[in-house]
Amino acid sequence: MFEDLKQAQPDKILALMAQFREDPRPAKIDLGVGVYKDENGRTPVMRAVREAEKRLYDAQTTKAYVGMAGDLAFDAGMVELVLGADAPKDRVRCAQAPGGSGALRIIAELLKLARPDATVWMSDPTWPNHLPMMKGAGLKIAEYPYFDAATGTVRFDAMLDGLGQAKAGDVVLLHGCCHNPTGANLDMGQWEKLTGLLIERDLFPFVDLAYQGFGEGLEADAAATRHVASRVPEMAIAASCSKNFSVYRDRVGAAILIGRDKAGADAAFSQLLGVARGMYSMPPDHSAAAIAIVMQDPDLYGDWKVELEEVRLRMLRLRKGLADALRRKSNSDRFDFVAEHRGMFSRLGLTPEQVERLRDEHGVYMVSDSRINVAGLPEDRLDDLAAAIVSVL
Ligand code: LMR
Repeated sequence: MFEDLKQAQPDKILALMAQFREDPRPAKIDLGVGVYKDENGRTPVMRAVREAEKRLYDAQTTKAYVGMAGDLAFDAGMVELVLGADAPKDRVRCAQAPGGSGALRIIAELLKLARPDATVWMSDPTWPNHLPMMKGAGLKIAEYPYFDAATGTVRFDAMLDGLGQAKAGDVVLLHGCCHNPTGANLDMGQWEKLTGLLIERDLFPFVDLAYQGFGEGLEADAAATRHVASRVPEMAIAASCSKNFSVYRDRVGAAILIGRDKAGADAAFSQLLGVARGMYSMPPDHSAAAIAIVMQDPDLYGDWKVELEEVRLRMLRLRKGLADALRRKSNSDRFDFVAEHRGMFSRLGLTPEQVERLRDEHGVYMVSDSRINVAGLPEDRLDDLAAAIVSVL
């Protein structure tokens, strides 16, 4: 059976995680995988989630299946979190999914069912796992230009030109906020123009919202998605709770569909649940149930928002600290974009060789495309880190 199989290429982010773990140097710095870390290098369970888990433990009397769409209170809460109180509820459907990734994959399978010839247009670059996920669903892939590595900004005109090549009915995969891996994002004026193009060319928006609350704030990070949703007839959203609720390993996310009308939404949703049934049958429950408790309790929800904001502000401080340190050490404004970017990542614009030297000579780990996880920056050693980065330029 397996004799013809070759060794699979490891995912570069996961391979880096393993390499970091094995490095014995005590001063090593992990800027690799996108997991939030506090000033002690820990990824804490959030206060509200822990409290909700205690309540869940006391109240839960069964582990029987919840149902294919998962916890309905969680689903309703996610629709409100992502689309706001004004969401067109008659046309919106939501299914709990195993992480944002699970949501991405079942939506991709649904798109393949709905329009087998569709091409999915992805930003160049994008999260490396988007590619196998979309390809795995049998969809065709194309790229639109996105990032100018020299300036650290979005090539917006080139992006629109690229999407001008898409054919009616194609899918455009967009990062709703906090672009991964670059950290460079569209402003609202650009989102408005982009939405106009999507409508004009009859392109289907598929938004990956994995970092809501990590960029400009919980509401501001949803503004682009809400704008698109308010204008287009149909769209899909894969929302992740891994980062903003810090429940990475529990795998909680939401697949949200907006249909043309109620009947269209119902039909698409029934197919989505059918896809999920064929892939993993039922979503995992635990953290979704805890998040539903948080969302339904004003005190817990309020405390979650406070803690999330603390997380966001810490990352902003680290961004500014690194940009300042790099300015001092390089005597240039080359890296000022780090302070302008938003979300968990920035792409520094180093070559793979420079990234390798940072790892080998300084124990600084980042993805080979020079993506750094801002939350991994050591606040008390930013000058040392900046000096190391400048030394390999
Ligand atoms: C990342 O981009 O580092 C995260 O989304 C984790 C992952 O699975 O790649």
